[in-house]
Amino acid sequence: MNLLFIGDVVGSPGRDMVKEYVPKIKEKYRPNFTIINGENAAGGRGITEKIYREFLGSGAQAVTLGNHAWDNKEIFDFIESAKNMVRPANFPEGTPGKGLAFFKVNDIEVAVINLQGRTFMPPLDCPFKKADELVEIAQARTPFIFVDFHAEATSEKQAMGWYLDGRVSAVVGTHTHVQTADSRVLPNGTGYLTDVGMTGPYDGILGMEREAVITKFLTSLPVRFEVPKSGRTQLSGVYMELDRKTGKCKKMERILINEDHPWYS
Ligand SMILES: [Fe+2]
Repeated sequence: MNLLFIGDVVGSPGRDMVKEYVPKIKEKYRPNFTIINGENAAGGRGITEKIYREFLGSGAQAVTLGNHAWDNKEIFDFIESAKNMVRPANFPEGTPGKGLAFFKVNDIEVAVINLQGRTFMPPLDCPFKKADELVEIAQARTPFIFVDFHAEATSEKQAMGWYLDGRVSAVVGTHTHVQTADSRVLPNGTGYLTDVGMTGPYDGILGMEREAVITKFLTSLPVRFEVPKSGRTQLSGVYMELDRKTGKCKKMERILINEDHPWYS
């Protein structure tokens, strides 16, 4: 049982990379299940129904979100009917959508959980207590449990990895948009990566036009960030091999495709 996770897709440059490379990556790695984080997919802010469907068409079975989930208001029109979409579970009770979803993959089920961190981020319910609750529900049905932990602080992500070690197949961080080099399998069988990285513009700052970001640092004034319309692009992801019986992770392999890390099929 093998999983592929593609990190935070930013705007049309990111979506183009998904269209171009996800089929190639799938051909090489042959994952049984593919997940895309799409919270920045619509111009860097949120996601539309068209883009969500485009991701499913590109070969993903699940789409996860994060703090930008609600930036494009269209989400409120389709999130309840988007059965392959998973938003951070620790939003308050009554928030539209769901934070845990089950997917049938041949004869087995995969559970996908999305959680959001609280360190240097807006206040939400405790992601650790929410993880306890959802992992217990998921474990009653399947040992194949994937967690996208959308968080800013490395320490909070590491804490989640260790906290869930042995209870889920993998904890992979999203949100900080730069792939970390610490992929590993923790002692009790949970695959862990602090941040999977971003899929989108390669020469911006976290996927946004760098001039605007630099101006913000220089002036401390509010600046509107836009996704660059042209330029070099990249894809970030991680491939995970899970034991067919236990759901434990056997192997984590980071995928990074850009001009400095060319794709070899
Ligand atoms: Fe984010």
